[in-house]
Amino acid sequence: MMGKAPSLVTGLDGFRHVRSPRIQTMANKKLKLCQAMKIFSSLLLASLVTTCSAFVPLNQVLNVTPIKTRGRFTALKMVSRAEKENPYMEELKANARKIGGRGRGILASDESNATTGKRLEAVGVENTEENRRKWRELLYTAPGLGQYISGAIMFDETLYQKTAEGKPFVDVLAEQNIIPGIKVDTGLQNMFGTDGETATQGLDGLGDRCKAYYTQGARFAKWRAVLKVDDRDLPSEKAIWENAHALARYAAIAQENGLVPIVEPEVTLGPGTYSIERTAFISERVNSIVMNWLNRYDVVLDAILLKPNMILPGLDAPIASKEEVAKYTVQVMKRSIPPAVPSIHFLSGGMGEEEATLNLQQLQKEYPDSPWSLTFSYGRALQSSTLKTWSGKQENWKAAQDILVKLAQANSQAQLGQFVEGTHPSPGGGRILQALRLGGAGK
Ligand code: 13P
Repeated sequence: MMGKAPSLVTGLDGFRHVRSPRIQTMANKKLKLCQAMKIFSSLLLASLVTTCSAFVPLNQVLNVTPIKTRGRFTALKMVSRAEKENPYMEELKANARKIGGRGRGILASDESNATTGKRLEAVGVENTEENRRKWRELLYTAPGLGQYISGAIMFDETLYQKTAEGKPFVDVLAEQNIIPGIKVDTGLQNMFGTDGETATQGLDGLGDRCKAYYTQGARFAKWRAVLKVDDRDLPSEKAIWENAHALARYAAIAQENGLVPIVEPEVTLGPGTYSIERTAFISERVNSIVMNWLNRYDVVLDAILLKPNMILPGLDAPIASKEEVAKYTVQVMKRSIPPAVPSIHFLSGGMGEEEATLNLQQLQKEYPDSPWSLTFSYGRALQSSTLKTWSGKQENWKAAQDILVKLAQANSQAQLGQFVEGTHPSPGGGRILQALRLGGAGK
């Protein structure tokens, strides 16, 4: 008896194979089984989709996009729509990495006209638009600043200003390899029924402002939330949630419009004898809740920068040693900030200029292999001596720029763990405190 002739069959892999009748029967059985499994899983998926799409499409519910693979399985790609559909996403991530690169930090120079005015007046300079412009020109044109500074946060007025010779500040910064940033919140308001707690304003019209700032050359943004702390009730639950929500909504809008958001939940250094442990406990809680809200709003963590406080005890408690500050600060960051965030830029928050540098250096010793760059976004700790040295006098211009660059260099070295103690350009200075400003355009 002649057996059946071998035949050509098409396998699951789509190729044609020569098969003997016995093998062909087995292959047919296998094929049928696979087809049955495929039909069963499609039915299962279809019933899931039908159930969920009664409300909203399944991919929106799960925040996932189904994709086809070459194999037998269908995989789910775990990317939020906000990440997938954002045309700026790669640029945002690259800018965040650039600003947060090791060995550099941010110059915070985004004080409102009112706060800048107060500071200018303290050194005998009148608060006029021209004097504010001059002061910012001094900062941004300091020779060599870009070696230590990766980003400069500006106020709305400043972003559109130029040097005396007519060069836009954004171009001056670009030549220094410094990325221009912009403060986009519009200041603090008292939260009624709380013990002086605040909510940050500025969500209305934020998308349009971000678009205009991007066009003007800004590539990152800042929003400051302030939480008051004491050793009993502060901050309240409602202040934490209000501020975490606003930070998340702001961060989502900034990313949508091409600006890397600096997320700044500042547990602010205030009066009282509350302990360093208390600030650590509160800061960990605040950071964790902020991260949770960022996640709810699909904010992409690789494309944000965090600007928190270092962990310090209350102003009426003894000043903590740098070892203690570093221990608690690192503990809080490890417990609350995912490694996807490229860098953590501490605010100086009232620390003295030398104190801010030494504490920053100690953080590197406490956590040498930190996943994020532990760096700075200092305002007062970079500007205080610079402004005093200038005092509005043309003959002091160069000396003031020199001290700014030396302060920036000291903090850059501290970021790298290479600062030599005893060589600080502004040694022994005290705390640089300022009252919380309510209303108006913020700090
Ligand atoms: P300080 O370093 O002066 O605290 O300012 C940083 C800042 O920008 C706070 O919003």
